Amino acid sequence: MENNESVLLDVESLSKSFENVQAVDNLSFQIRKGEIYGLLGPNGAGKTTTIKLILGLLEADAGNITVLGLKPENDEVEIKNRIGYVSEEPLIYKSLTPKELFNFIASIRKLDGAKVTKKLAEYLEGLSAIEYYDRLISTLSRGNKQKVQIIAAILHDPEILIMDEPLAGLDANQLK
Ligand SMILES: Nc1ncnc2c1ncn2[C@@H]1O[C@H](COP(=O)(O)OP(=O)(O)O)[C@@H](O)[C@H]1O
Ligand SMILES: [Mg+2]
Repeated sequence: MENNESVLLDVESLSKSFENVQAVDNLSFQIRKGEIYGLLGPNGAGKTTTIKLILGLLEADAGNITVLGLKPENDEVEIKNRIGYVSEEPLIYKSLTPKELFNFIASIRKLDGAKVTKKLAEYLEGLSAIEYYDRLISTLSRGNKQKVQIIAAILHDPEILIMDEPLAGLDANQLK
């Protein structure tokens, strides 16, 4: 028997079009706790549109999305609190350093300072990111911006991490 408790994300018959482009056409899939799930497809296949629908950033034409038991159209804020999102575009906060960005995120998400410090030490070491901690994000390479985005997305211990083009700019030895 199906255990619905373990389904974190349920996408059912999802469709979305823009003017004359059918970006997502009757898409269904489920993701369960503990799974790593990849949406593969060529440019323009509708991957980013699907992610934006899940996050409540776009409205579907048809279909149903249930994420952590919530509906993106009703619970956008709670979903953002419980999901980590690494967008396809590099970071927008280019005039900050990674350190400033992480402090900013910790403050808007009201995270425990000591826990954040501990996690940051671990993540920065894991991603060999410590050396540019105090440099402006605008001066970092694409891959290093991506690492900063990933850390920013997991700082609040999200229940689901959604990454759009997760490997963008990362070199092979970061892929472990
Ligand atoms: N805001 C938008 N307005 C018009 N067309 C869009 C918009 N966003 C995406 N599209 C179109 O929808 C299709 C799917 O795009 P997208 O979801 O970005 O694909 P992917 O992420 O798989 O490369 C493409 O044809 C794209 O041009
Ligand atoms: Mg995309």
